[in-house]
Amino acid sequence: MDLKYILQALVLSACLSPLATHAQKIEESSFNATDLIASTNNIKKIFNLESHDYDKYTGDEINQVCAGCHGEFGMGGSDGKYPRIAGLSIPYIIKEIVLFRERLRPNIAMVEHVEERQLANDEVMDIAIYLNKIKLNNRLSIIDENAPDFDAYARLQEAKSVLQIGRTEGDIKKGKKLYKKECKSCHGKKGEGNQEDATPRLAGQYQKYLWRQINLYIKGKRLHDEDDPEEEFLKDFSKEQLGDIFAYISTLDD
Ligand code: HEC
Ligand code: HEC
Repeated sequence: MDLKYILQALVLSACLSPLATHAQKIEESSFNATDLIASTNNIKKIFNLESHDYDKYTGDEINQVCAGCHGEFGMGGSDGKYPRIAGLSIPYIIKEIVLFRERLRPNIAMVEHVEERQLANDEVMDIAIYLNKIKLNNRLSIIDENAPDFDAYARLQEAKSVLQIGRTEGDIKKGKKLYKKECKSCHGKKGEGNQEDATPRLAGQYQKYLWRQINLYIKGKRLHDEDDPEEEFLKDFSKEQLGDIFAYISTLDD
């Protein structure tokens, strides 16, 4: 049980009346708010993907709202102000939407778009599956723009779905070693995340966005490991070490 989360929930209940029922539930059961609603196991129970009938058209429709910030193909933008969301694992996308909705992860920009009255649970699953299926390219294919069958519209669409994270400074060799020892077991051999689990990809994600998240974890505003809420794992690394890891990660989508 983490007192910090209970206090957070109590403060929220005072400020935000629509949340009162949820916060009261937390108060009454004196559960960790994250345990209660947004643990991966709980998410898998509430959002039963196996019996869900995926509706691509609903996914596409909802994505038009998300695209206002995250882009048409979920590739994010503004140098990581808006993260890439294409290809994230389905359980992870669902879990983060629930965290935003419950104000357990800070994000003023998005909250109104993911409220339950805006986005029912079935729709959360549709948009999560829809985004998960989007494959981004890391470079434009080589074609002859002067060829008679050149399709300018198709080319424009392709260009919009290209995301290549520029290499960042740091010792790639040291970063690789650290990544393999400390991060690979969960975030995957190539930083691709875990599709079965709520573990995000790190490769192909904006570096400024990732740094911002590291700071949120270190400040206790996000929970990196739900199984061990007290863990201070990310605090154990120096800025330089994390920079080396990120430099290595920035090579993984080349
Ligand atoms: C008004 C802008 C805006 C809209 C519209 C928006 N988002 Fe976001 N979203 C953000 C911002 C900003 C962040 C990053 C917050 C941060 O840096 O901590 C974010 C983060 C996310 C994340 C977390 C990514 C990660 O790697 O953890 C997911 C998932 C997400 N959004 C899904 C969606 C979906 C689905 C929709 C449409 C229903 C949507 N967003 C609509 C602004 C927006
Ligand atoms: C025990 C498994 C585990 C290990 C080991 C691990 N992570 Fe994570 N990481 C996760 C999970 C699960 C999440 C998503 C948690 C959440 O919902 O906020 C995450 C999220 C992140 C995010 C936020 C990504 C996003 O899209 O918002 C960053 C950055 C990150 N981890 C960096 C690291 C680094 C760097 C290492 C190695 C030093 C590492 N992690 C090791 C499980 C792990």
